[in-house]
Amino acid sequence: MTKTQSKITRDSALLALIQKLTETPGPSGQESLIRAAVLEEIKDHADEIRTDALGSLIARVGSKQDGGMRVMISAHIDEIGLMVTHVDANGFARFIAIGGVSPLTCIGGRVLFMNGARGVIGCERLEPNAMPTLDKLFIDTGALSKADCPVSVGDVCGFERPFLDLGAHLVAKSMDDRVAAAIAIQALRALKKTPHEVYFVFSVQEEVGLRGATTAAYGVNPDIGLAVDVTRTGDTPRGIKMEVALDKGPAIKVRDSSFIADPRVVNWMASSAEAAGIPYQLEVLEAGGTDGRAIQLAHAGVPAGCLSIPCRYIHSPSEMVSYTDVENAVRLLVRLLSEEIRLEYSPESAF
Ligand code: CO
Ligand code: ZN
Repeated sequence: MTKTQSKITRDSALLALIQKLTETPGPSGQESLIRAAVLEEIKDHADEIRTDALGSLIARVGSKQDGGMRVMISAHIDEIGLMVTHVDANGFARFIAIGGVSPLTCIGGRVLFMNGARGVIGCERLEPNAMPTLDKLFIDTGALSKADCPVSVGDVCGFERPFLDLGAHLVAKSMDDRVAAAIAIQALRALKKTPHEVYFVFSVQEEVGLRGATTAAYGVNPDIGLAVDVTRTGDTPRGIKMEVALDKGPAIKVRDSSFIADPRVVNWMASSAEAAGIPYQLEVLEAGGTDGRAIQLAHAGVPAGCLSIPCRYIHSPSEMVSYTDVENAVRLLVRLLSEEIRLEYSPESAF
């Protein structure tokens, strides 16, 4: 345990895990390093581990007992990044986005290529008050010419930014979704007794359209599933209108623009949190999607939901989460997976 500038007591092993996972590069389609890092953390704790054709890591804990279900938990291990489209004669590399990358958070940023090359992002001269677009930006690797440039067409980079510990809040470039990978790892290790066959999926290519979770959900063929992913918050100056805030507990997703969580799953999650005295918030996200959609639409359909981690500045190089929200998310996930699952519509709510 570490004592910090805030009054919260924190688990230094959990902090180190989040730091390790967020600082490991792994843009969509290039997940081998982060997959190896996750494997290292879980290999002594799972009953069976496999990697599917797209590269998602799938770890089973427990086997189906009486009253048990096959449960899929999905946390994506890819992150947003950039891919080189061409390099000009002077060695400046142009690029496209992998996933949702804003030009506003690119300028002045630093990138790390999967081949080890580094660079910074510059911008063409813009008209006064013009908003930059990605086609006005370029990566400067310090190359003197095209021949000297350490990267070429098709090379992929992620953003490079060290983990920052602010006490009650933690900041890193890819809390989306490595904080969820850390939560899933912690839950996997803590899950001692379960009536369920739980498949922890560390999915690939979420940021380019939930692709890893799509094939993983088909392969696992779960009875029920949850994504674990970050969600936006409405708690910053003149931010979006949204009730979710940092430090008020993990959020139980009701809806985002990719799927409507199964109301029975929402009920199960909320009543379990209440029974355990774990704080939670209900989340309605206007725009954004998660692996929950891929699980819900697998085979003939699966009851699915999402455990969300409130996160400020999503898809920027400085995504911020609350330490206590992370701990409470681990507690809630372990609780959910330890008990028998009852899927019921709530008589006293709109569900
Ligand atoms: Co994302
Ligand atoms: Zn995500």
